[in-house]
Amino acid sequence: MRDPVNMLAELGRESAGGIVRLPVGTPSIYLVSHPDDVQHVLRGNWENYQRQGMFWRPLQRLLGASVLDDGAAWQSSREILQPLFTARYVASLAEQMAAAVDERIAELEPYAASGRSFDAGEELADVVNQTVIKVLFAGRLSREGGRRLSPAYDRAARSIAFRLLLPSMPYSVRLPGDRAFMDAVQRIDDVVLPMIRQDRDRRRSGTDVFSTLVRAREEQGAGERQVRDDVVSVYGAAAESTATTLTWLWATLAAHPEVASGLYEEVGRVVGDGPVRASHLPELGYTKMVLQELMRLRPAGWLFPRMAKRADLVGGVQIEAGAQVLITPYATHRLDEFWERPLEFDPERFAPGRQERRHRYAYFPFGGGPHQCLGRHLFDMAAPLIVAALLSRFRPVVRGGGPFTPAAAGSLRPKERVELALVRAPHLLRGAL
Ligand code: HEM
Repeated sequence: MRDPVNMLAELGRESAGGIVRLPVGTPSIYLVSHPDDVQHVLRGNWENYQRQGMFWRPLQRLLGASVLDDGAAWQSSREILQPLFTARYVASLAEQMAAAVDERIAELEPYAASGRSFDAGEELADVVNQTVIKVLFAGRLSREGGRRLSPAYDRAARSIAFRLLLPSMPYSVRLPGDRAFMDAVQRIDDVVLPMIRQDRDRRRSGTDVFSTLVRAREEQGAGERQVRDDVVSVYGAAAESTATTLTWLWATLAAHPEVASGLYEEVGRVVGDGPVRASHLPELGYTKMVLQELMRLRPAGWLFPRMAKRADLVGGVQIEAGAQVLITPYATHRLDEFWERPLEFDPERFAPGRQERRHRYAYFPFGGGPHQCLGRHLFDMAAPLIVAALLSRFRPVVRGGGPFTPAAAGSLRPKERVELALVRAPHLLRGAL
């Protein structure tokens, strides 16, 4: 209970990827970590494994009927959103994204000038709001709205921990975190509902995610609640995961100076004094390798539970109807059979050519099968741009803290606050002298 994230990973490692039944009573909960079995659950027999049951129920109060749900609600949201997340469509947003990233990262300059440190999680959430979300929502989320939205999600993700740890506890029994969770949902609605109402009044015709969702739902005659569920889910999926991954990056680099040096070298060579541009992306190969390795050891989407509709045989084990199946890349990404020195942070694993030999489901930070993450191309574009823009101007220094440990929240975030300070990158210091 103290460290459920690593407990699951240990169980996966000790059983060498075999199915593990957790000793928790009924319904049964199985940990499924072998890549063949993950593939079976997420892709081969995916229709039998639904996002339902004890683990999803608490989240449904936040996400409602949306792309993070299942069945008809999921399908109709996915159909609306899919065309907006193809590799080609996302590439068309790259210049706009690069400009937004450059502008927002330049705002960090006062930290370098004053030496003042800041909460990396909080600041990066704002960076993501002003870049990824700004592009997805065509600027509709105001700065002030974003500053209310991010902490509310953070609160929702953290306060849900008890419900995830005690999934069979009925709602008639109050758990710590329940009130904070409902309060967070209210705060989220206080920002999102006015955004939707304003948009409906203006009847805008944009091609961004927000306009497309509002328009498509209006054409279907759906109510405000449906649009709210869509927007809250897309924001949550996009913003939370991106900001937490970037927060882990600095915490991880602090313990791996040789990797940090490699990043500085690449960004210096490719981007120089900046500004970062879309045309830099193909040359940021090492930056991408570092992010891939980061998502191996710190996958933001760390737990995707499923409920078996009908009985099934997985990895030679009989799974009964109604049982819960836990899929966690955090465990699979640490299996000895598929990774050499699995607990070591080593971006070279993702060097060109080395990935082809890997089982498709030995590495799946973005999930797989029909529920595979819609935002992976967007992340692959936005995250290197943010990292490169930041390192073209600054060197981040983690103050105190560490080692950083993962918390069992809705997304995988460090339990401890990551306190960051910025110093100017050496070439800029030279220029100033
Ligand atoms: C570090 C970044 C990200 C990670 C690690 C991540 C991870 C994941 C994972 C593991 C799933 C599958 C969940 C499941 O099978 O139950 C998922 C689904 C999803 N992600 Fe992401 N994601 C990231 C960024 C994004 C971004 C930027 C967006 C942009 C909107 C996004 C949108 C979605 C959506 C809409 C789904 C639901 C897809 C469906 O069920 O049809 N994600 N993500």
